[in-house]
Amino acid sequence: MTDGINISTAELTMNEPDDRNRLDVTVQGLIHTGMDRPDGPLKVSGRATYAHEDQPAGMMTGVLVRAPVAGGQITGLNAEAVRKLDGVRDVFHGKTFLRNPAQGTANEAPVQPDGKISYIGQPVALVVADTFEQARHAAHMIELQITPEDAVTDLDVAEIETPKDKQSSQGDLDAALSDAAYTVDETYRTSGHSSSAMEPHAAIAQWDGGKLTLRGSYQMLKYNVNELADALGVDAENVHILAPYVGGGFGSKLGISHEAVAAAHAARELGAPVAVVLSRQQVLEATMRRSETVQHIKLAADADGRMTGIGHDSTVSQLLDESFAEPVSQATPFLYRGENREIGMHIKRINRMCAGSVRAPGEAVGITALEIAMDELADVSGIDPVELRKRNIPEVDPSDGREFSSHKLAEALDDGAKTFGWADREAGKTDGEWLIGYGMSSATRVNMLGESHARVTLNEDGSLLVETDMTDIGTGTYAILTQIAGEMLGVPADRVTVRLGDSSLPKAAGSGGSWGAASSGGSVFVACEALRKKIAETMGVEERDLTLQDGVATTNNRRADLPEFTKNGPFTVEGTINKGDTQTDRRQATFGAFFAEVGVNSVTGETRVRRMHGSFAAGRILNAKTARSQCLGGMTFGIGMALTEELMFDKRDGHLVNNDLAEYHVPVNLDVPQLTVNFVQERDPWANPMQAKGIGELGICGAGASIINAIYDACGVRVRDLPATMDKIL
Ligand code: MOS
Repeated sequence: MTDGINISTAELTMNEPDDRNRLDVTVQGLIHTGMDRPDGPLKVSGRATYAHEDQPAGMMTGVLVRAPVAGGQITGLNAEAVRKLDGVRDVFHGKTFLRNPAQGTANEAPVQPDGKISYIGQPVALVVADTFEQARHAAHMIELQITPEDAVTDLDVAEIETPKDKQSSQGDLDAALSDAAYTVDETYRTSGHSSSAMEPHAAIAQWDGGKLTLRGSYQMLKYNVNELADALGVDAENVHILAPYVGGGFGSKLGISHEAVAAAHAARELGAPVAVVLSRQQVLEATMRRSETVQHIKLAADADGRMTGIGHDSTVSQLLDESFAEPVSQATPFLYRGENREIGMHIKRINRMCAGSVRAPGEAVGITALEIAMDELADVSGIDPVELRKRNIPEVDPSDGREFSSHKLAEALDDGAKTFGWADREAGKTDGEWLIGYGMSSATRVNMLGESHARVTLNEDGSLLVETDMTDIGTGTYAILTQIAGEMLGVPADRVTVRLGDSSLPKAAGSGGSWGAASSGGSVFVACEALRKKIAETMGVEERDLTLQDGVATTNNRRADLPEFTKNGPFTVEGTINKGDTQTDRRQATFGAFFAEVGVNSVTGETRVRRMHGSFAAGRILNAKTARSQCLGGMTFGIGMALTEELMFDKRDGHLVNNDLAEYHVPVNLDVPQLTVNFVQERDPWANPMQAKGIGELGICGAGASIINAIYDACGVRVRDLPATMDKIL
């Protein structure tokens, strides 16, 4: 249908910020309502097809074989013997594997040098058989001959790099500290984290001639296509990825992972569809980890608690030759005032699986440590923690003098304090053997936008079709794109169809970095605005004199059903939004505040979160239900960071000790009390035409600090090494 003549393209035209309230004049009533996910019924009834569920006939199964040592060179393996086992079709090894999962915004996938091992658990071979059981058995029978090489498995002896471009300094922090009325100078540690999405990484590869179709579970298809093509040595136009439903990503599916290349390579060689699904252990041991962090924080404040200096120096770890480093202090430069500052970062090189983006890389751990330090500053200065933060909200970005696009941290702090009842908290409260305490923290996360394209078609029956390669990783993309298109064109939600997760569709920024809704939604907005203009033009009026509601267009003297505009066939517009279209040089970020009540058991040292509240300011909230769900998820992972989640590596050989969900403790229902979420009214006129900002990751950015600070209030123990397990409290 898009081959017809009624196709055009549209780009955003931004007027003055005051004129950017274009969603406010629409009348369908879809935006902001907590509309249910259109994909919800499919998901809860098992009809949504995840990566391993749409299985082609004749499909074979591959199981990955992994390195048993952290460093070495594979010199041989018993492939011939294993190929003779029941049901085995082939054994693949050599340069057909990723060295590490790709990072997601790269277009290249690093393929491992032949036989080189750089961490325990690294995939080094694939055994393909007719059934999973045969493949798994055969994989166990593989014997690798390895020449061991030196590997660094102990962080205490790892080499430290100090990249020059990651150090910055302003004023004189030492002088600020010595002149200060109050200071904090402490070191905080956060643990390594696993993304641990519910759906494991999975791929089914099928070739048709020289063309690959891969059903996978990925966040950013336009990059994933290029990565996969690069790894396979084929042109990107010969790679087609389908990911209509993704059971969580949390960063681990930003880039393709081992299963994609292994399945695609084997399927090409065998001339049959091949599926590779990572086991839970493989997900933990061979996809992305979040680096552990060591953060040295220095704060200087005058007698009124006004900050004069801030230092944030972090050390993270990474494999050799990988460029990504957890951007721990990414939001430190703009959260609080203080003209003297030193911000730096160091990288330790270690033979562990690749460190990558996991759940709000940077702020999740960086703001958490900073917000524990802020609580220490509140404590030494005797200033209420909420008041201390409000006194230190900067007028402009203190690092470079830029204005903020919109900034509602103060409002979020006030709203959160009021909702939680912060002023009424009781000191020294107990409940049986539980010591009760209260804590709070700020939240912030940078706001971004990425180039996105979407195609919107007004069909002959007046219904709408929205198409983009954007993904829905559980975040609510199907819902919000339905709402934006329906709102803009006055079409009820049940007459809007959204197609996602197909790399042949117009390319979106993908799901990551909290930019998905703004970016893909922005492109849908642009396409819809062009359709509105087309309708207005046909009716001989300006767009602002047009009302579109319930499938009917009205002006002050005319009324027409939408099908009247498509008498010559459907009308399609491809909308494009680009970063430069909307962004000025203003600092863009989201803000919020967390409040927690905990009980610390005076006998066991166990901490239970009893209540937790978050107030968030993220521009226009597109869907109150899915936005709230994102925040609940973030706060839940904040509980995990504070109390339970910790990747534990054996420093003798570098293996991950807690490699499944029984031992790596993601918070479960009993760990999570009733959480409450408020949204602060806000529009960001500089962010994008919907005036929304990204909310996906804001709910974790600092959340754990409110719990750590509440533990201190409850029992006087200041935990600076997360998670706050019982041994650290007793
Ligand atoms: Mo995110 S950790 O950018 O998926």
